[in-house]
Amino acid sequence: MCGIFSYIGPRQEAKQITVEGLKKLEYRGYDSWGIAFKKDNSDLEIFRRVGKISDADENTYNNNEKSSIAIGHSRWATHGGVHEHNAHPHFSENKDIALVHNGIFENYAEIKKELQDKGYTFRSDTDTEVAAYLIEDIMKEGLDVKEATKKAVSKLHGRYAILVINKFDDSLITARRGSPLIIGAGDNEYFVASDVPAFLKYTNKVMYLDDDQMAVITKDGITFFDLESNQEIDKRIIEVNMSDEEAELGEHPHFMIKEIWDQKDSIVRAINQDETKILELADKINSAFGTYFVGCGTAGKVGLCGIYIFSKVAKKHINFEFGSEFESLSHFIKEGSLVVAISQSGETADTLEALEIAKEKGATLVSIVNVESSTMARMTDFTLPIKAGQEKAVASTKATTSQLAIVTLLAYATAGKLDEGKHLLIETAAKINDMLNPRYEEHIKALAKKIADNESMYIIGKGANYPMALEAAIKLQEVSYIHAEGFAGGELKHGPLALISEGTPVIVFAPKDETHTHIISNAKEIQARGGFIIGVSPENNEVFDYWIKVPESDVDSPIVNIIPVQILAYHLALIKNNDPDKPRNLAKSVTVK
Ligand code: M6R
Repeated sequence: MCGIFSYIGPRQEAKQITVEGLKKLEYRGYDSWGIAFKKDNSDLEIFRRVGKISDADENTYNNNEKSSIAIGHSRWATHGGVHEHNAHPHFSENKDIALVHNGIFENYAEIKKELQDKGYTFRSDTDTEVAAYLIEDIMKEGLDVKEATKKAVSKLHGRYAILVINKFDDSLITARRGSPLIIGAGDNEYFVASDVPAFLKYTNKVMYLDDDQMAVITKDGITFFDLESNQEIDKRIIEVNMSDEEAELGEHPHFMIKEIWDQKDSIVRAINQDETKILELADKINSAFGTYFVGCGTAGKVGLCGIYIFSKVAKKHINFEFGSEFESLSHFIKEGSLVVAISQSGETADTLEALEIAKEKGATLVSIVNVESSTMARMTDFTLPIKAGQEKAVASTKATTSQLAIVTLLAYATAGKLDEGKHLLIETAAKINDMLNPRYEEHIKALAKKIADNESMYIIGKGANYPMALEAAIKLQEVSYIHAEGFAGGELKHGPLALISEGTPVIVFAPKDETHTHIISNAKEIQARGGFIIGVSPENNEVFDYWIKVPESDVDSPIVNIIPVQILAYHLALIKNNDPDKPRNLAKSVTVK
């Protein structure tokens, strides 16, 4: 994770432009931040702070110092705690170089030891600082910064995106492997960022740096290199079709609740997909030698749910694995296999790695993503955008239901029943419109007040609602910090039932389908042990201590059931004074393994 941004060009406000860009990337990491810049021909300077850049007092950093080259970073800590000395940028020991980094240098400890043995003294606990020191050390061999950076990255293993500035010339050196870096090209000026919206205010002309490539940018132009062949390469400028419109809060106090409300529309956009693309992907699934869904976190739960939906609708077996576990189960992948990555950001390192493994084995790669300019969208053979609109809160809500809608449409399409699927989902969208109203939110808020003091809570579901129980748990954990776990209802009696005591809240997903009788029996087993049963169901039941009504549903029950839990998680976060948009320890886009 981490967001990186930089500017080089004729404007003298590089520092201010960089801070502004970083604010747009804060979703990628928000425990600390910093910038490095150069005042006319003088030494490099660094400014770093712990905390969110959006909370920073402009008077402390936004003075009118002129600078035409700056780099910046918004951090999500991996190596070294959240301290100012671990925030980026990092200097080389002699302060001739400043560097920001997104990713992890896996062999940093060895290199650090070698440099320490040569007499270098480090100032931080990070893997990043090692790269700055290594460049300095290589420059002592007589290489310039560009050549030294090339040599340094060839020695560093892992996923990274780096930006380097130096005190000798006005250049910006940038390289990547595995972590996103996009260059925005204005008139004689360049921006480099982890994500396009950070510089859209200035330009929509972009160049994507690919893995093992480097760019050297000066005010006069840009040169790209392939790091393996050490040859110069050409890059195409692409005009992206995005506007600079920031997602706005509107009448909502937080993005999480705004995005929950957005589901009234986002689901419709997901359904109104280009039908030919849905049918094309359905054909690929039907003719593949095995289809594998892969994703992480919430997107992973959607993948797991997808295998139930495909089983029910299309009588088709789909495999699923979390991105982080894919390698151990990838031995069956071969030419003819189809690997479908599900991801909001399209940048999640574990999912990307699964795709890389699958590619090596000759599989066809597909992505179902929200960010259409993402690495996943660009590296896969076929991509289907979910069109949820920008999702800013760390806790995924509208992207989840849009992904569920797409997977459902695909299941119907593979069964030759796309129209039936569309019809079902159009009704789902109408139901969500009815459900999302202030009275409904108040009813859930009242429940949040009742259960906010509990240390643990559980969620059970059966069939396609078992993965939704897992997803509900993530939602509650992320923003309320209450210990929450999801289970398949039938598994309770094999162990987890021992966790239930007087008053333990348990959410029970009880749609009126073939799972209803079983899950109600499970609820009774919990009630008999003193559990406080929260029923999420179209119909009340005597076993429910608190009933959250959801619309009648069928294959769409995962979509309608997860929404009230999203609202509950949000209100629990508020009661507990947590920031629902930027929960502790997390970031929106997880670009490290
Ligand atoms: O961008 P992705 O969908 O690939 O992200 C995967 C997970 O990191 C993400 O779903 C995470 O679990 C969410 N914060 C959950 O709300």
